Amino acid sequence: MKLAARLLAPLACLLPFTLPAQESADRKMMRKPEPKQGVTLTFSVGGKTDTRAARLVALEVPAGQSATPFLPAGPFTARWDASILSDLRAEFSFAADVRGTVKVKLNGAVILEGSARVESPPIKLQKGANPITVEFTSPAKGEAMLRLLWSSKEFPWEPVPPTAFQHDASAGALLAGEGLRAARLHFAQLRCTACHDGAGLVPAKGEGMPELAQDAPVLGELGSKFHEAWLAAWINDPHAIRPHTLMPRVFTGGKPGEIDQRAADLAAYFVAQGKPAEAKPLDPALLPQGGALFANLGCIACHTRPDAEAAAKDEHNRIPLAHVRAKWHAPALTAYLKDPAQGFAWSRMPHFRLSDDEAAKLTAYLFLSAKREFPAGPKGDATRGAQLLVSAGCLNCHAGLPPTTAPTLAATLQTGWLKGCLAPDATARGKAPDFALTATQREALAAFATTGLGSLKQDAPAEFAERQITAQRCIACHARDGHASVWSQVESEMEPLKAAAPLEEGEGHPIATTALPALTWLGEKLHPEYMAKFIAGQEKTKPRPWLVARMPGFPAVSTGLAHGLAHSHGFPLTDPAPAAAPAAAPAAAKLQAGETLLTENGGFNCRQCHGLGDRAATAVFEAPGPNLDLTRIRIRPHYYHRWLLFPQRIDPDTKMPRFADDTGKTALTDLFGGKASEQYDAIWQYLQTFKK
Ligand code: HEC
Ligand code: HEC
Ligand code: HEC
Ligand code: HEC
Ligand code: HEC
Repeated sequence: MKLAARLLAPLACLLPFTLPAQESADRKMMRKPEPKQGVTLTFSVGGKTDTRAARLVALEVPAGQSATPFLPAGPFTARWDASILSDLRAEFSFAADVRGTVKVKLNGAVILEGSARVESPPIKLQKGANPITVEFTSPAKGEAMLRLLWSSKEFPWEPVPPTAFQHDASAGALLAGEGLRAARLHFAQLRCTACHDGAGLVPAKGEGMPELAQDAPVLGELGSKFHEAWLAAWINDPHAIRPHTLMPRVFTGGKPGEIDQRAADLAAYFVAQGKPAEAKPLDPALLPQGGALFANLGCIACHTRPDAEAAAKDEHNRIPLAHVRAKWHAPALTAYLKDPAQGFAWSRMPHFRLSDDEAAKLTAYLFLSAKREFPAGPKGDATRGAQLLVSAGCLNCHAGLPPTTAPTLAATLQTGWLKGCLAPDATARGKAPDFALTATQREALAAFATTGLGSLKQDAPAEFAERQITAQRCIACHARDGHASVWSQVESEMEPLKAAAPLEEGEGHPIATTALPALTWLGEKLHPEYMAKFIAGQEKTKPRPWLVARMPGFPAVSTGLAHGLAHSHGFPLTDPAPAAAPAAAPAAAKLQAGETLLTENGGFNCRQCHGLGDRAATAVFEAPGPNLDLTRIRIRPHYYHRWLLFPQRIDPDTKMPRFADDTGKTALTDLFGGKASEQYDAIWQYLQTFKK
């Protein structure tokens, strides 16, 4: 009984802050993020330190790279501080895989020390918090690597999961380090160097922090896309239309609610450029189907519904669409939905590979539901608008024109970042644009100014991945580290949309409600090249064809995300060749065994749920799994073994059975003496022969 409960909820028995009955429902239910989950990580190089939060005790730093943007490359030390929460009975062994040296203290006692692979005997944890510190020293040269693992009588070796750690998120050094990171990202995203010449302080385009290369939409042919009243309102005050926009309010000082004459002039200039394509009348019959797509494709995870009140606060900070009818000409909107990065490579709206039919339905839904209007402002003068386009600095961001605004970035630094763009109010801001910064953001930027901005010249892939998971809203659709996705929390908004155009479900038909994969272990699951292609939306395979949803493409950030995720889990980009020379192909008998083990006759009947090449799964509606011919190109060997040995340790809700018992034996004693790891290896070897 107890074992069964653990199978379903492996962590619930260890962590008092997750209520056992809730654990398996977590992914579907709303759960507020635990602000103190994770660890504090401090790097030191030559006496200087830098602190940030981390999810795991793991790192991978290739030779010659810096471990953090805030310290130079070269030999370093890293120290993780956290507590592991436990109940009284828990007993665990710990291990570390290391390149460099490691020393781990738990409850004040050294439990691991050394290099390569170190393991501890079983250790009893105290009830409640068990302070742990992990001290790592990188090798003098070459790759640095660390992964901290644990195991118990009930589960085999696995990385200590993010949910097991708690840290003090309010510690001063951590707050400072996190503040600098937020400001550094703000600096890049708000494109400070578009106006303030950063020569000498910022790296050449394409070097250093990747976000410094962010573009802004090309402002060509806007008359073919947008309406004049919306343009004037947007240019006048972009934050009033899209709360988290990166575009500043350039014309400040006007009365609230009134359109500045200069914004009207620019709008008049823009609408004179390009004519809208002739629009066929929208078919209202498409509206319900478009609404269902809005729910089923996950648009609703990032956007509030177009019929939602424009001013309504949204607890998930989604992007409003109430204005789209007043903004767009319909054909241009359809074209945008099909390729949002057209003219704006760093657009954060992902690419859904929509068919013409889907794009038409979505356009009908958005257009016929959005209600927000923009009253006409003062009459604009296109000639004055054309001059403003250059003089107001619009093209500095929108066409990469060289900075023209005095002072230079170096000069702004000398004033401390407290004035101009960083002033607290309109009077003090003067002629500078308004970025709608909060007090916390301004303080962080001022602190960042004192660092001299050297951190912009380098980056750490693991940090890039973490930043972009937030910036691109991956967790809108995916669960991660025990936090439910936004999508799973807006079911009640989706119901009427889905009910208006229900999917046909039934034998052989898609199982729309099946959960999406969580992102928690992504960094060690997928081969980085495959992951990069998949995130870019350039991978033809759809591993879960039964899902109505699809993974949209994020091409601007895909490679950095894939590499950074691998690093943050302590994995290099390619798996080292197996120790025993693989030159000799696996024996035919082993391949034969692998093939048998997949079947119903003498095997585990994996084929019941998994297709294999052309052969479909035999009982797919039980719990479909990806076609196993994808394993070779998708799954890293380490993860494959971990998953097969105990799938519920990775995904408590998965229907994939666990075939091995606590001693690592399966019920099939005929092959390899029932040893699970050898049987799974035979299956692995066999699956490697699939050349897909
Ligand atoms: C659209 C162009 C533009 C962008 C982008 C921009 N600024 Fe400015 N900034 C200005 C203008 C214009 C002024 C006012 C100059 C004046 O008063 O003559 C200014 C003034 C300042 C000042 C005050 C300088 C002084 O000597 O008084 C600081 C500091 C500053 N900006 C920092 C920043 C930072 C940091 C960013 C990025 C978050 C940024 N700016 C982005 C245009 C810009
Ligand atoms: C991962 C989050 C995400 C998802 C999912 C998403 N969007 Fe977006 N979308 C954005 C962001 C962010 C923007 C703002 C534009 C930018 O940053 O370039 C945007 C912009 C838009 C715009 C333009 C809004 C405007 O003001 O002109 C439309 C229309 C839109 N999305 C529709 C959709 C539809 C339809 C879907 C589903 C097929 C969808 N979005 C799914 C993030 C998302
Ligand atoms: C600091 C950089 C910056 C400056 C200066 C700036 N913009 Fe933008 N602008 C952006 C970004 C970034 C976006 C994309 C929207 C977003 O991120 O929310 C944008 C979006 C827009 C859009 C909407 C384009 C679309 O395809 O949806 C228009 C129109 C626009 N800007 C016009 C202007 C005009 C006119 C000016 C000068 C008064 C200006 N911008 C100044 C950065 C800037
Ligand atoms: C609109 C919802 C949505 C958003 C936003 C989204 N994903 Fe996905 N993702 C999916 C769906 C649906 C799948 C399953 C696709 C399949 O297997 O056919 C998926 C699958 C994946 C996979 C494959 C995982 C596996 O275990 O097989 C990766 C990797 C992934 N997503 C990464 C990301 C990253 C990184 C982001 C943010 C940049 C992101 N996703 C944002 C919907 C989304
Ligand atoms: C009862 C159905 C079922 C059986 C039987 C089953 N699996 Fe699975 N398998 C699943 C499900 C469900 C998933 C997770 C799907 C997801 O991530 O969306 C999965 C995932 C996997 C994955 C990860 C696939 C990927 O590409 O993300 C591998 C590898 C795998 N199974 C191998 C096996 C092998 C080998 C066997 C037999 C020893 C087996 N499975 C038996 C249902 C099953």
